[in-house]
Amino acid sequence: MKTYLVTGGAGFIGSNFIIYMLKKHKDIKIINVDALTYAGNLENLKSVENDPRYSFVQADICDRQAINKLFSENEVDYVVNFAAESHVDRSISDPDIFVKTNVLGTVNLLNCARAAWSVGDDVYKPGVKFLQVSTDEVYGSLGPEGYFTETTPLDPHSPYSSSKASADLFVKAYHDTYKLPMNITRCSNNYGPYQFPEKLIPLMINNVLNHKELPVYGDGMQIRDWLYVEDHCKAIDMVISGGKAGEVYNIGGHNERTNLFIVKTIINYIKENVDDTVGEHLIRHVKDRKGHDRRYGIDPEKIKNELGWYPETPFEKGIVKTIKWYLENRDWVEHVTSGEYQKYYEKMYSNR
Ligand code: NAD
Ligand code: DAU
Repeated sequence: MKTYLVTGGAGFIGSNFIIYMLKKHKDIKIINVDALTYAGNLENLKSVENDPRYSFVQADICDRQAINKLFSENEVDYVVNFAAESHVDRSISDPDIFVKTNVLGTVNLLNCARAAWSVGDDVYKPGVKFLQVSTDEVYGSLGPEGYFTETTPLDPHSPYSSSKASADLFVKAYHDTYKLPMNITRCSNNYGPYQFPEKLIPLMINNVLNHKELPVYGDGMQIRDWLYVEDHCKAIDMVISGGKAGEVYNIGGHNERTNLFIVKTIINYIKENVDDTVGEHLIRHVKDRKGHDRRYGIDPEKIKNELGWYPETPFEKGIVKTIKWYLENRDWVEHVTSGEYQKYYEKMYSNR
């Protein structure tokens, strides 16, 4: 029986990961530690909340006492650190919290794990691992050619990506200095169920359904490399069990699309299947994001060759599954877009 301490498990990828893992593995225990910020939502975990293998603790990853308590009360085998401030636009308007959660929070987790797992000088309980969930954004931006590999130099541009790169360097330092067993995974843009509608795909789905303008930043020809969230969860599972300690693994499925292509795909699906009054007239090109990275593209050869990972969901299938999920879960969308979200939207998009 392995015990996973999953941080940020009430967010988009974390909740998908918990659901995926409990379905995939019988003999595991998952402790979900989440501060429940605006992005955390326990409704995501309704399907597993009564599973005896699952428990939830509301805590901040920066809270040394709370995290130490979790380690002392449980035989934790793996830490999977999803907890983060994850939205680039928010990091541009308010960087401080990104440093606190993403950098200091990660260092706090490293300190607690190191203390709890230590059985001698730089010697740890057998089989333990710290997995840091990172992002391709730490590599910066690509031109029209080439891909990010694990040896691409770090060159983050936004406060968000800088905070994630800093966290990665601390995780590496704890391996290089104290031999703490760890892996870092760097994934491209995820999409799928439970993604908070501040991100491109759910924001556009929600706006099309509500006949609201679709705010495309700049010319909309920026490229992101989209991966269905379940394929990301599968990769993390494989890295935990098979990844060589100290190694970085890039995760991506060669699904590069321009933002404009994504927006038009969503419009067309909804026009053909839900509401024929919507159309491209809803698109509005707005002021570009500051320091906007032009293109991301992952080279996933290492994880494919070493661990046999491959993505199972082609974009055409994944995007339809995702739109359908948002159509079938209007209550969830209603809930997360009421209150605070309205203020956020107003601040971010009015006068843009
Ligand atoms: P999210 O914003 O949907 O969820 C973040 C979760 O972390 C929320 O549940 C929130 O309550 C929790 N959290 C925030 N601050 C916390 C704190 N101080 N203590 C405890 N919990 C806290 O994010 P996501 O999109 O699910 O991303 C998860 C991770 O994956 C992040 O580390 C992100 O950098 C990384 N990542 C995301 C993507 C993507 O496309 N979304 C791609 C690559 C990597
Ligand atoms: O690449 C992985 C990263 O992907 C993760 O590390 C981040 O946590 C995640 O938020 C995501 O970052 P992006 O900045 O790429 O995602 P976002 O959904 O915010 O934007 C995707 C693209 O769409 C980007 O080029 C900006 C553009 N965009 C976004 C929004 C919200 C728009 O044109 N209009 C919008 O309203």
